Amino acid sequence: MHANVLFLFTLFFSVFSVFASPVPTGETQDIEKRLTRSGRGTYFHVGLGNCGKWNKDSDAIVAIPKSLYDKNGGSNCDQWVKIKDNKTGKVAYGKTRDSCPSCKSGDLDMSPSLFKKFASLDKGVVNVSWNFMHKGFKP
Ligand SMILES: *[C@@H]1O[C@H](CO)[C@@H](O)[C@H](O)[C@H]1NC(C)=O
Ligand SMILES: *[C@@H]1O[C@H](CO)[C@@H](O)[C@H](O)[C@H]1NC(C)=O
Repeated sequence: MHANVLFLFTLFFSVFSVFASPVPTGETQDIEKRLTRSGRGTYFHVGLGNCGKWNKDSDAIVAIPKSLYDKNGGSNCDQWVKIKDNKTGKVAYGKTRDSCPSCKSGDLDMSPSLFKKFASLDKGVVNVSWNFMHKGFKP
C-alpha cells in the first residue's frame, strides 16, 4: 500500500517535471524546441549539407526551412527533429544536417530513407507536424 502510494507519487512528479522543468538550454531554444510546426514533408537526395557534413540517403537526415536555419544561424545543426505524419500518426526522428531553400516555414525536407518511414517515394509529399528535440537528444 505504502509502496504503491510512493510509486504513484514518484510517477506523478517525474511526469510533471518533464513538462514543468525544461532542460536549461536557454529560453529561446526552449521555446523553439516546444514549438510544433506543420506543413509539407518532402524528400531530397542528401550529400554535403549546409551543416558542412556529408550524409547518405540511408541516414535519417532532415533539411529545415532555410529561413529558420538562417534565423538560428545554423545552430540547429545535428539537432534531432521529431516528425509526425498527420494522417497516420506515425512518428520518426531525423537529424538536422541541411537547409531547404524551397521550404515554407512549416515544411521539412527528408532523406529518402526517412521519408519512406511515412510513405513510398512515389507519393512525394506527406503532411507532417514536427518539433525540435532538445540538444543532445538521440532517438
Ligand atoms: C497537422 O495537424 C496539426 C495538428 O492537428 C494541424 O495544426 C496542422 O494544420 C496539420 N497540418 C496539415 C498540413 O494538415
Ligand atoms: C495535406 O493537408 C492539406 C490541408 O491541410 C490538404 O489539402 C491535403 O490534401 C493534404 N495532403 C495529404 C497528402 O494528405
